[in-house]
Amino acid sequence: MGRVSLRRFVLLVILLTVVGIQFYPTGLDRAPADPSQALEASLQPAPEVAGMLARACNDCHGIVRQWPWYASVAPVSWLLAHDMSEAKEKVDLAHWAQYPPQTQARLLADMCEEVQKGEMPLKQYLWMHREARFTPGEVQLFCAWTDREQARLGATR
Ligand code: HEC
Repeated sequence: MGRVSLRRFVLLVILLTVVGIQFYPTGLDRAPADPSQALEASLQPAPEVAGMLARACNDCHGIVRQWPWYASVAPVSWLLAHDMSEAKEKVDLAHWAQYPPQTQARLLADMCEEVQKGEMPLKQYLWMHREARFTPGEVQLFCAWTDREQARLGATR
């Protein structure tokens, strides 16, 4: 095999691999979630708070409204699926109604803490989504909301 044909052969193998891996299932859950089970339906946060969750948390923890095109392309789709299943294992805002009140209260406290520490939203996500950043004022608003909800959940237990 000459130099050129070897290079073509390698390129062909790469191309076939990239195409081939697209058929490998990602495990990404694309079934439409039931909005009545989501945090937004069960806690009915004020529009400011709902907006913050939508722009900064829901892509990983909640109901995703729209996938970017690259989310369907392996191996990006595998990485996203992995991150999202890990995120939802910890906090599933799309199936919030399934948590008992004590769990909801604990998760709300964790959510405020992660946001205050700047751990959430994940840094990798902020590189691509500048709009997901919270101002200090928004962090306060967010935690004032989680505090109120915790108090309310404690009262109804
Ligand atoms: C890009 C995806 C992504 C976004 C956006 C995101 N998270 Fe997470 N979140 C994760 C992943 C992955 C985990 C599990 C791994 C970890 O704890 O780092 C997680 C874990 C958590 C935990 C549990 C932490 C723990 O260690 O127990 C909380 C609470 C949380 N996220 C809240 C939020 C809140 C609130 C927002 C929005 C302000 C948010 N997350 C946005 C991906 C994300």
